[in-house]
This record gives sequence, structure tokens and C-alpha cells, in this order.
Amino acid sequence: MKPPPPPSFGVSAMLRPHLRSITAFLLVFSAGYSLGILSSSTRPTTSSSSSVPKPSQTVIRPHAAHLTNDVVPASNATAAAGTAGTGGYPRSPPHDLFRFGDECGEPVASDAVVQTLLDKLFDGESPYASFPPAHTAALLHPAAARPRGWGSTGAVFAELIESVRPDTIIELGAFLGASALHMSAVAKNLSLPNTVILCVDDFRGWPGFRGRFRRDVPAQRHGDALLLPQFMANVVAAVGPEAAERVLPVPFSTASALQALCRWGVYADLIEVDAGHDFHSAWADINLAWAVLRPGGVMFGHDYFTSADDRGVRRAVTLFAKVKGLTVRPHGQHWILSPKPQAGDS
Ligand SMILES: C[S@@+](CC[C@H](N)C(=O)[O-])C[C@H]1O[C@@H](n2cnc3c(N)ncnc32)[C@H](O)[C@@H]1O
Repeated sequence: MKPPPPPSFGVSAMLRPHLRSITAFLLVFSAGYSLGILSSSTRPTTSSSSSVPKPSQTVIRPHAAHLTNDVVPASNATAAAGTAGTGGYPRSPPHDLFRFGDECGEPVASDAVVQTLLDKLFDGESPYASFPPAHTAALLHPAAARPRGWGSTGAVFAELIESVRPDTIIELGAFLGASALHMSAVAKNLSLPNTVILCVDDFRGWPGFRGRFRRDVPAQRHGDALLLPQFMANVVAAVGPEAAERVLPVPFSTASALQALCRWGVYADLIEVDAGHDFHSAWADINLAWAVLRPGGVMFGHDYFTSADDRGVRRAVTLFAKVKGLTVRPHGQHWILSPKPQAGDS
């Protein structure tokens, strides 16, 4: 008689009753694992689990990755930019926030600046010719030779005009003409009768500005703020019709006007920045204006507040000075940058 098999206490004996369930589990697990690997190859890879954003963190989408990654592989950059053959984007400057053109056209002679702009902007005719026509005059406030402004007669204007003795001034942000007319008067007093002031302004003000200036600006007409004709009426009242075109409106956005002046070779010896006061507007204005500032010329502007009252101008000015190796001199409510270096200066 065969002896009965010895009782088995091995692992295999213990697992044998569960063999089916274990096999089924392993099949399901390996199928899930393979699917996981396949799908992960379509997601961006992360270098470590710590870089996986928590729900509360900002997720940088692939199209903005060039702002955070050291270098986006060319294939990603190409897909993001939608152009063929683009290289990787560097994380640090220079990138688009710092990339402003600084090569402008052949300089137009100072005494040809007004005619150049009349040709380019006003079909060769002064916008002040026969101004204002009766139907426009009927809509305007009485012209003000000293219109409402902001720090528009500060000592900084006379100080800089006296030291720079500019042929051409560019003002960014003219509103009703207060600071432009003050500069015109200062230049005249300093025996600089030919100084030209190019007043770049879209003459739209800003959303909601009318509530604060009802006594200074005419009522809008069919959505037209009427700031341009009011500015022009003020200029004619202050300097007379003959000299008015020396305080010439350039009625466009600061960015498009500055880029056009650059293309046309219209440069300034003195530039005042007083248009948009948020960081991005001031940053773009300062950088674009720098290209049309003559070497040796000076840029200054309004609203250099304390850090507690900083709407963005101060940060833009400070950053610009740092990038260009310039110094900033606060002057009352204004800021003044050290003169633009001559070519070849380090
Ligand atoms: C503070 S006011 C200028 C005041 C003037 N400098 C003075 O002292 O009388 C600002 C002006 O900038 C203009 N402005 C703001 N952003 C602009 C932009 N992006 N392009 C053109 N003009 C702009 C507005 O229309 C407004 O007239």
C-alpha cells in the first residue's frame, strides 16, 4: 500500500487554491501598467515628482513654457510659435520683453522735421490751416492758453530745456496741451523760437476720464472725445496761428507713432514720457522712445512716485536704467535719466 502523500506546508501549497485569482489580478495589472506608459509619452515630462504642480499652483501651458524653461526644445518651440525652424527660447533676457528695435532711419535734419511730418501725417498741409472750422468751434470749450494739466509747469521743464537747448522735443501724452505749451513758452523765453514739440497722443484720454474733467474738456460727440480739436484750439490761443505747427499733434498711439518716427528718421533731443502710467505702457514707451532719442539727448517723465505709491512708471524707469546702465535722478514729481551715451561710449 502506497503511503499517503505527506502533508504539504510549502508556499506553493498555500497559494494553489488562490492561483486563479492571482493570475487574473496579474493580467489586469500588467494591462493597466502598459496603457499608463503609452499614454504618459504624450504628456510633458517632469524632471521630478516635486515639479508636478499642486492643484493650487499655476500650470504653465506649453505655449508659455519659453518663459519658465531654460530652453524649450526646438520642436516644442516650433509647435508653440507655429513657425517652422524656430530655435529654442532662452529663459533669461534677451527675450521679447527686452527686445526693442534701436536702429532707425537716416536722421532728418532738424529744420525739416515739421515738413516731414506734415507730409507723412497730414497730406502736406498744416492741420492748423483754417482751424477751427465753425462747426468744430461750436463744440469746443473756450480755448485755454493755460489748460489743465498735472505738474505741467514744474521746474524740471525749464531746467532741462535750458541745459539741452533742444531743436526737437517729443512729448508722449499731451492731453489738453498744458505741458507742451509750458515747454513752448520756456523755449521762447530762452531764445529758442524754432524748437519743435511733437505731441504724441491718441487724444482719447482713458476710460472714464470725462467725469473728472467736465469743466476742461468738451462733451463727447458721437463717441469722439474731441480732445484733439480742443488741444489744437488751446495751442492756437497760446502761440498764435503762425507758430502753432511748432506744437504739432501726432494723433496716434505712442507705440505706433514712435515706431513710425524711428522709420522716418525723426529724432528728438529731449523726450518727455507722460502717457500710459501702468508698467507695461511705460516700459514700452520708454524703450521705443529711446531709439529716437539722439545720442547726448535726455529722457524724462512724470509720476516717479515713492514705492508706496507706485503705479508702474517707477518700476519701468528703474528697470530700464538698470538694463542700460543709466542713472535716474528724481526731480519733484518727475524722473530724469542720465543722457543717452554717444556711439562708442561704454
Ligand atoms: C496724464 S495725460 C498727459 C498730461 C500732459 N503731459 C500734461 O501735463 O498736461 C496722459 C495722456 O496720455 C494719453 N495716452 C495714454 N496712453 C496712450 C497711448 N498708449 N497712446 C497715445 N496716447 C496715450 C491720453 O490720451 C492722455 O491725454
